[in-house]
Amino acid sequence: MSAPGPKLHSKLPQVETSIFTTMGKLAVKHKAINLSQGFPNFKPDPVLLDLVSRAMDDGYNQYAPMQGIFSLRETISEKIASLYGKRYHPESEITVTAGATQAIFTIITAFIRSGDEVIVFKPAYDCYEPAIQINGGVPVFQQLNDSDFRVDWEAFQQAISPKTKMVIINTPHNPSGTLLMAEDMLRLQEILKNTDIIVISDEVYEHIVFDGNTHESVAKYSDLASRSFICASFGKTFHATGWKMGYCAAPAALMVEFQRTHEFNVFCVNHPVQRALNQYLKTPEHYLGLNRFYQEKRDFFLEALRDSRFEPIPSKGTYFQLLDYSNITEESDIAFAKRLTIDHGVASIPISAFNVDGKDNKVLRFCFAKTKDTLERATAILCGI
Ligand SMILES: Cc1ncc(COP(=O)(O)O)c(C=O)c1O
Repeated sequence: MSAPGPKLHSKLPQVETSIFTTMGKLAVKHKAINLSQGFPNFKPDPVLLDLVSRAMDDGYNQYAPMQGIFSLRETISEKIASLYGKRYHPESEITVTAGATQAIFTIITAFIRSGDEVIVFKPAYDCYEPAIQINGGVPVFQQLNDSDFRVDWEAFQQAISPKTKMVIINTPHNPSGTLLMAEDMLRLQEILKNTDIIVISDEVYEHIVFDGNTHESVAKYSDLASRSFICASFGKTFHATGWKMGYCAAPAALMVEFQRTHEFNVFCVNHPVQRALNQYLKTPEHYLGLNRFYQEKRDFFLEALRDSRFEPIPSKGTYFQLLDYSNITEESDIAFAKRLTIDHGVASIPISAFNVDGKDNKVLRFCFAKTKDTLERATAILCGI
């Protein structure tokens, strides 16, 4: 008999296998077309791949500086300034991170103490809540409107307490594909005035915005920017989610605290990829063309579903499309998503997994960051349901 090992007392007992893992495994087992997890099934630009190989050949294989290489921080600073009109100092206000997830985890770890409250809008991307809880914080959830996923700012104001330390916003929003508009940002800015609340602004889909809308970065709102971290992801922007590369930007006083934790968390991130990204970012078309690229995919996906019984909920950004299936069945979204995968061969994500108390509005999320062929095959199946 093997020794029993230490008695464990989980710090995150409520965390179970994520819905992404469950649906991903089910897709593999049943050889389903996987539109569940959010990643492209096509390669990054060969130019970028070449730049990474070259950086490795050129010998950039050892530790990078803790904050990221200076030239990349300068280029990021330039990019934010040209898009949103605010210049973050490359020396003291930008850190290159292992994807947005590490930036978000590190910000929460750097600032949240036991009992501090963090307001999170639901449905929400799944990395926020465990990061708050493992640091002893208390997530305070606010459900977005069912029909249009807008924020109820009155309710938000009510949710602020003397313990509120932080709020997390996400635009363009995963999973709904909605955007925070200028009026939302102004309202948030006004409500937070004269408070010490820090904002995490998850902007990983900043370059995937449709129909002529603009991305409302916190960088555009000076009061808001003075209390905010912007979190960005090169994985999302350059079809390379497996590289786990991103950055965050914030005023120097906030960034000092961030780096105190970052230094002893990862210290620094992938050096050759930083070299490559710095070169690649010098051509703005490499990221400015993304809106059109994904809008064409969204439109193709929606057009192919025109005669189906699914009802699309407008997607204004991200590479996700929500489909309401209440015309088809009364089944719970989890049961229907599983049946769709097992019996019909298309995997998606049930939205109740992201909602307060698992609220089920009969909506599934489909990722359209896929080749035309994959989208054609998936929509042909969905039209037959
Ligand atoms: C809203 C949101 N934030 C953050 C991330 C994570 O980004 P990264 O892969 O750069 O860690 C994702 C990935 O799906 C996301 O959808």
